[in-house]
Amino acid sequence: MAKNGVKHLAVILRSGHSDERSQGVVKEIEALGCQIDLLSADVAIASDVDKAFQATTVPIAGIVQGAMVLRDRMFSSMHVSDYHGALACKVQGTWNLHNVAEKLGLKLDFFTMLSSISGVVGQKGQANYTAGNAFLDAFASYRHGLG
Ligand SMILES: NC(=O)c1ccc[n+]([C@@H]2O[C@H](COP(=O)([O-])OP(=O)(O)OC[C@H]3O[C@@H](n4cnc5c(N)ncnc54)[C@H](OP(=O)(O)O)[C@@H]3O)[C@@H](O)[C@H]2O)c1
Repeated sequence: MAKNGVKHLAVILRSGHSDERSQGVVKEIEALGCQIDLLSADVAIASDVDKAFQATTVPIAGIVQGAMVLRDRMFSSMHVSDYHGALACKVQGTWNLHNVAEKLGLKLDFFTMLSSISGVVGQKGQANYTAGNAFLDAFASYRHGLG
């Protein structure tokens, strides 16, 4: 996005951005003339999303939902915590991004969700992840339905 001229980005994740790899990416983005807000928040927690959305330097004009947690395991031995561990950021996280954006009256140019073909064809050992991606596909239809 920065390479294509975006001047402001805000990135949300839970674990912070101080690691070497993140710092390298931040430097590259800033060198392209893009200012980046580094926010720590859990998208599965609505109040976190609310706070993060109100902490950006400029108003949010578009959302890319790319949160992912993998807890791969055959479904027959998948613990319910593994199931929800992978699902929460995609299902609850997406609802929170959508609801907070609505609540704040944001005028969004795009609401892009990074789903996966696994949500359509399935994937051994990833029933939780594929369910999350199937949800994202359905949510895209839901938002289209809202216009
Ligand atoms: N990689 C692939 O081959 C591939 C293929 C098809 C689709 N995709 C999709 O593309 C997207 C990105 O994939 P990726 O490979 O770039 O994944 P990744 O490197 O694992 O990045 C996922 C990010 O999500 C963040 N995250 C997870 N749970 C979160 C939460 N509750 N709140 C806020 N941030 C959260 C993680 O940071 P923290 O853990 O610090 O929060 C991490 O930075 C995913 O939606 C995935 O389904 C990827």
